[in-house]
Amino acid sequence: MEEIRIETKVTKVPYQELSQKEFELMNQAVQAATHAYAPYSKFTVGAAVLLENEVIITGSNQENAAYPSGLCAERVALFQASHQYPEVPVLALAIAAVADKQQVESISPCGACRQVLLEIEQRHGKPMKVLLCGTKEILIIESAESLLPLCFGAKDLDC
Ligand code: THU
Repeated sequence: MEEIRIETKVTKVPYQELSQKEFELMNQAVQAATHAYAPYSKFTVGAAVLLENEVIITGSNQENAAYPSGLCAERVALFQASHQYPEVPVLALAIAAVADKQQVESISPCGACRQVLLEIEQRHGKPMKVLLCGTKEILIIESAESLLPLCFGAKDLDC
């Protein structure tokens, strides 16, 4: 028998230590949450995607009376980025949750979003930094793959 340990490195960065780009990305994610359509959960989420060409694309969660038809903020932003700039790698994704117009503690992407992050990261062959924005600090994960160990991906379909 062999035990395999999988570790994920998460870096906690106080606001003052963020780079200008990271700070801007976080602010754009917070701002994007104001565009959410979340009448059912009342939980609004914003996401901001930084592309290699320095363009930032944002998204927010969009709910639906038929619940599974809605989409998380991360996928709204990432699919829009892939649509507008299919060839441009995603360098970073910031995620911020807002309740009653106040930013809340950091949240982490759901399983379905992690799968989408992973596919986009692998498609471009460049790590996508994930920034989980809290009220005083940000948690930074260096790649989408580290959020989804033992993942199923394009390689399993020989693509
Ligand atoms: N949601 C996101 O947009 N992103 C996350 O990372 C977690 C959850 C949305 C989905 C739904 O509209 C609401 O938050 C409550 O789950």
